[in-house]
Amino acid sequence: MRVVFLGPPGAGKGTQARRLETRFGLKQISTGDILRAHRAQGTVLGRQAEGYMQRGELVPDTLVIEMIDHELERIRGGFVMDGFPRTVAQAEALDRMLAGRHTPLDAVILFRGDRSALIARLGGRWTNPRNGRTYNALTNPPKVAGIDDDDGGPLIQREDDRSETIAKRLEVYDAQTKPLIDYYGKAGKLVEVNALESLSAVAERIASAICAEQARN
Ligand code: AP5
Ligand code: MG
Repeated sequence: MRVVFLGPPGAGKGTQARRLETRFGLKQISTGDILRAHRAQGTVLGRQAEGYMQRGELVPDTLVIEMIDHELERIRGGFVMDGFPRTVAQAEALDRMLAGRHTPLDAVILFRGDRSALIARLGGRWTNPRNGRTYNALTNPPKVAGIDDDDGGPLIQREDDRSETIAKRLEVYDAQTKPLIDYYGKAGKLVEVNALESLSAVAERIASAICAEQARN
C-alpha cells in the first residue's frame, strides 16, 4: 500500500502515520521529521530549510522533491507519506516519480478539523526530537511530564508551535495545500476522516479505508 496523508498542521498526520507503521508495516515518510533531522545535523539542506521552517512557510518545492526522490530510492514496500505533497507541483512530481517506478498511489487520506481545535492541539504538543513521536498535554500525555514513555529522554515543544507561527502554517495550508483536495478528489483517491475524533476512532477509520483498498487490489 502507498498512502498519502493530507491535512492541516495539528490534524494528527504524524501520530496516525506512526500507528500505521506498527499496524500495517508501512514506512512513515515525514518530510517535516526528515527536514528537522537535516537541521539537527547541520547539512546543506538543513541550513537551506531553516528560515522557511522557522517562519512557518513551505521549503521550496525543488528541495523537497529531490529529498523525496532520494527517500523513494531507499524504500522497498509500502509507505505512508505524512506532510508531502503540500503543493500541486509536489503532487505532480510525486505522480511522475511513482509512475516511473510503476508504483502508483493507492489512497489519500484527508484529515479534516476546525482551526480552533487544531491551534489548541498544537499548543499542547510535546515531541520526542529523537524519533518524532508526539504526545499532548491535554489529550495524550506521557506518563511523566516532559519525558518519553519509551526511551526515557526529554520531550520538547517544537519551535514552530508558537502561536504566531501556528497561525502562519494554517494560512499556508489554506493557500498552498488545500488545492490538493481537488487534485486528489478528481483522481478518485480521496478518503475523508474527521480529525477531531479520538485517536483510536481516527485510527480505525483509516484502517478500514486501507483494508477496503487492499480488498479491491
Ligand atoms: P510538519 O512537521 O509536517 O508540520 P505540519 O504539517 O505543520 O504538521 P504537524 O506535524 O504540526 O501536525 P500533524 O498533523 O503531524 O499532527 P500531530 O500528529 O503531531 O512540517 C513542518 C515544516 O516543515 C513546515 O512548516 C515546512 O516549513 C516544512 N515542510 C514539511 N514538509 C514540507 C513539504 N512537503 N513542502 C515544503 N515544506 C515542508 O498531532 C498534533 C497534536 O495533536 C499532538 O500533540 C497529538 O498528540 C495530538 N493529537 C493527534 N491526533 C489527536 C486526536 N485524534 N485526538 C486528540 N489529540 C490528538
Ligand atoms: Mg507531523
